[in-house]
Amino acid sequence: MAGLQCLILSSVLLVLCVLGRMAYSHAEDQERKIYVVYMGNLGENEELPKTTHHSSMLEDVVDSRFQGQSLIRSYTRSFNGFAAYLTHEEQEKLASREEVVSVFPSIVLHPQTTRSWDFTGLRENSIRNPTVESDMIVGVIDTGIWPESKSFKDKGFSPPPKKWKGVCKGGQNFTCNNKLIGARYYNSFMPSTTGSARDTEGHGSHTASTAAGNVVKGASFYGIANGTARGGVPSARIAAYKVCYPSFGCQSSDILAAFDDAIADGVDIISVSLGNPELVALENDVIAIGALHASRKGVLVVQSAGNSGPDLVTSIVPWVFTVAASITDKGIITKVVLGNGTTISGKSVNSFNLKGNSYPLAYGNETTTTCDEQLAMGCLESCLDKRMVKGKVVLCNEDKGMEEAFNAGAVGLVVHSTRAPDVSFVVPFPFSGLTMPRFNDLEGYFNTTKNHTVDILKSEVVKNLNAPSVASFSSRGPNFLFPNLLKPDVTAPGVEILAAYSPLSSPSEFPQDKRSVKYSILSGTSMACPHVTGAAAYVKSFHPNWSPSAIKSALMTTAWRMNASKDPKAEFSYGAGHIDPVKAVHPGLVYDISPDDYITFLCNNGYNASTLRKIFGTSVHCPDKRTPNDDLNYPTMTFRFVSPIGKSAKFSRQFNRTVTNVGSANSIYKAITSSGLDYNITVNPSILKFTAIGQKQSFVVTFSGKLTSKTNLTSASLEWSDGVHSVRSPIVIYSTGL
Ligand SMILES: *[C@@H]1O[C@H](CO)[C@@H](O)[C@H](O)[C@H]1NC(C)=O
Ligand SMILES: *[C@@H]1O[C@H](CO)[C@@H](O)[C@H](O)[C@H]1NC(C)=O
Ligand SMILES: *[C@@H]1O[C@H](CO)[C@@H](O)[C@H](O)[C@H]1NC(C)=O
Ligand SMILES: *[C@@H]1O[C@H](CO)[C@@H](O)[C@H](O)[C@H]1NC(C)=O
Ligand SMILES: *[C@@H]1O[C@H](CO)[C@@H](O)[C@H](O)[C@H]1NC(C)=O
Ligand SMILES: *[C@@H]1O[C@H](CO)[C@@H](O)[C@H](O)[C@H]1NC(C)=O
Ligand SMILES: *[C@@H]1O[C@H](CO)[C@@H](O)[C@H](O)[C@H]1NC(C)=O
Ligand SMILES: *[C@@H]1O[C@H](CO)[C@@H](O)[C@H](O)[C@H]1NC(C)=O
Ligand SMILES: *[C@@H]1O[C@H](CO)[C@@H](O)[C@H](O)[C@H]1NC(C)=O
Ligand SMILES: *[C@@H]1O[C@H](CO)[C@@H](O)[C@H](O)[C@H]1NC(C)=O
Ligand SMILES: *[C@@H]1O[C@H](CO)[C@@H](O)[C@H](O)[C@H]1NC(C)=O
Repeated sequence: MAGLQCLILSSVLLVLCVLGRMAYSHAEDQERKIYVVYMGNLGENEELPKTTHHSSMLEDVVDSRFQGQSLIRSYTRSFNGFAAYLTHEEQEKLASREEVVSVFPSIVLHPQTTRSWDFTGLRENSIRNPTVESDMIVGVIDTGIWPESKSFKDKGFSPPPKKWKGVCKGGQNFTCNNKLIGARYYNSFMPSTTGSARDTEGHGSHTASTAAGNVVKGASFYGIANGTARGGVPSARIAAYKVCYPSFGCQSSDILAAFDDAIADGVDIISVSLGNPELVALENDVIAIGALHASRKGVLVVQSAGNSGPDLVTSIVPWVFTVAASITDKGIITKVVLGNGTTISGKSVNSFNLKGNSYPLAYGNETTTTCDEQLAMGCLESCLDKRMVKGKVVLCNEDKGMEEAFNAGAVGLVVHSTRAPDVSFVVPFPFSGLTMPRFNDLEGYFNTTKNHTVDILKSEVVKNLNAPSVASFSSRGPNFLFPNLLKPDVTAPGVEILAAYSPLSSPSEFPQDKRSVKYSILSGTSMACPHVTGAAAYVKSFHPNWSPSAIKSALMTTAWRMNASKDPKAEFSYGAGHIDPVKAVHPGLVYDISPDDYITFLCNNGYNASTLRKIFGTSVHCPDKRTPNDDLNYPTMTFRFVSPIGKSAKFSRQFNRTVTNVGSANSIYKAITSSGLDYNITVNPSILKFTAIGQKQSFVVTFSGKLTSKTNLTSASLEWSDGVHSVRSPIVIYSTGL
């Protein structure tokens, strides 16, 4: 584990990292790594001290010299297993033991880095259920939390709800209260150091306050985005589980430990703004495993889709609620005023003000003594000369030059921005990132004017006419493991979100940027995830007995319809659409799923009983016959069409679904289907009559038509309407070519 991470560390951390590992490997030929030994469900005999058992299992296989240091932690509260330093040989011995379900190396995951709630329609004065909302406990698995933040003060809060079984073990100088009711930390990177659940990065405070932070008036980042910062459920309680460390990341053995505790502590919803660095097998995916145990206990797990767009989403299992990130109707821009009076808009969160002064503009190639023209124009590393940039705003044709220009001491920087042109990030000095046309304008001014000067203004908030649309960085479908399951599930605000931050962390993430702030602006699917966590808690506060899948269904079938013509990947970008928490309280009908349905789903997707035993822990029985339609009662309908070579791509697919009435006892729903030139949809029956709450009705959707190579993707929809409620599911057919 440490090997890979150490490469990117500063020299100080590198030493710690190497030392940390040496203590456990000595001069052994065989390197010891962290392995997760997963033993499935808790056994019948819950009294048996499992930690003792884990130690004795290790004694059997681990060289006596290392036994004392091998065990990192035991999982004993929600499922059974442990994490330990093991050699390859030792882990193989353990894997062959009967009681062991699977053994896999721990890997490193990473965090996927306010007005946004108003944008979703959940307003400060929206109708609420404060008593039940106050019983909601939101568990946040992240970089920790800043307990002194105004977002987590407990004025007006009663003692924690009775169901709470957690603790406040945040380490030294860490106090919980009736808002922040629990804290724990896990650190397999450096198990011997004194730990703390205190957030030194800002990410965990940001996500926790977005989900369930207090209403805080006058919050802003140096006046930018000034307004009220608040979580989706301001009356709910928060429990923080710290698993991530600056420069290191988040060890999967620690994430699994946090799930083990959070489920047993009694949280209602778990928010995980973390993602696998790559596509991993289901049996090695700790978030999928942890979430599976959570779902069996009625706890919904919400996860960010990932920030690798347009590449594939890594949160892919049906029992997790997967969230894409979209831009809201408010965007942050930074204007550049040219010496001739023309203003050009670019992106950044720039809190600096050059006080109306213009500075000479210098292209990177004019301020170098070391690099050739091409490299210098991009302001690549070590190209800029400190003396030559002094007093100047630097112009670069690539967006890699921020660190270089900042360290060289330039007054400011304007670049051609390609990496995430639709997002503003907090910058450590005056900066604006321009799209190609705007950059050409600036270069044209530079070329045609001898005495070229610019002023970079402090950022401002402007109306975003393109909202909501999915951010370029948000990971997209299709689902690499379950091609007939649409992921992500929904989209939510994830761009330029103002929320609580850690005063210890540099807001721009540049160590030389010594500013300290209580609120900051971040972007990422990490920020979208807690919006859905908050929304789910809000729905649950009206329906405390709903299953995780019913809450998920409510948020999916009431989501705003997105405009497919704006996004070539359509539903693979935004799933069922953009969340509408207020509407989700009254969905009318829900698509419910029982935890056992997931087993059948996995059987139908080619997992055999022995692999499933590895994942579920208990013995699992797969139906003898795999049904060709691997229908899970999911609120979306998706089919990957394997087109015969050279043939016209005609498809026909049936989806069987069952809805549960949660609206009015006596109601009649009619099927309304979208229409298109290249497909037909029939629904049988097309009218559903209900006479009681909780009543279930089944139906079959037949979707047929032709895929054209022009799109390779056909989006359609089914909507059940009783005149009051509209229960909408996207239907997506795509070809393997996509
Ligand atoms: C406890 O932490 C707070 C916040 O960082 C700090 O202001 C305070 O000085 C600390 N107290 C002690 C005793 O370390
Ligand atoms: C934020 O807005 C409030 C009310 O409009 C104002 O009183 C306050 O000074 C503003 N804060 C900043 C930092 O601009
Ligand atoms: C260059 O332009 C700036 C601002 O437009 C002006 O103040 C300055 O006098 C000009 N210098 C020369 C040499 O023209
Ligand atoms: C730097 O590049 C710009 C844009 O291509 C060009 O106009 C300028 O003459 C170059 N300057 C030097 C010193 O090469
Ligand atoms: C500016 O001049 C350089 C060459 O000196 C040229 O390559 C570039 O295309 C010009 N830019 C614009 C926008 O005219
Ligand atoms: C300033 O210069 C740019 C680039 O040459 C040009 O497009 C623009 O029209 C000029 N603005 C004014 C007010 O002259
Ligand atoms: C969808 O987007 C397209 C292209 O941007 C636009 O022409 C169309 O009016 C939009 N449709 C709706 C319903 O907003
Ligand atoms: C079950 O599937 C796994 C992985 O595909 C395979 O290695 C194993 O041999 C299979 N077991 C049985 C009993 O078919
Ligand atoms: C779907 O429903 C139809 C009609 O009720 C039934 O014949 C078919 O077997 C069902 N398919 C599955 C996979 O359950
Ligand atoms: C849709 O159904 C109609 C009537 O059955 C048929 O004529 C048409 O070809 C179908 N369209 C497609 C794309 O299959
Ligand atoms: C559709 O699939 C075909 C064949 O797999 C591929 O060649 C084509 O580029 C795809 N088209 C689009 C728009 O993705």
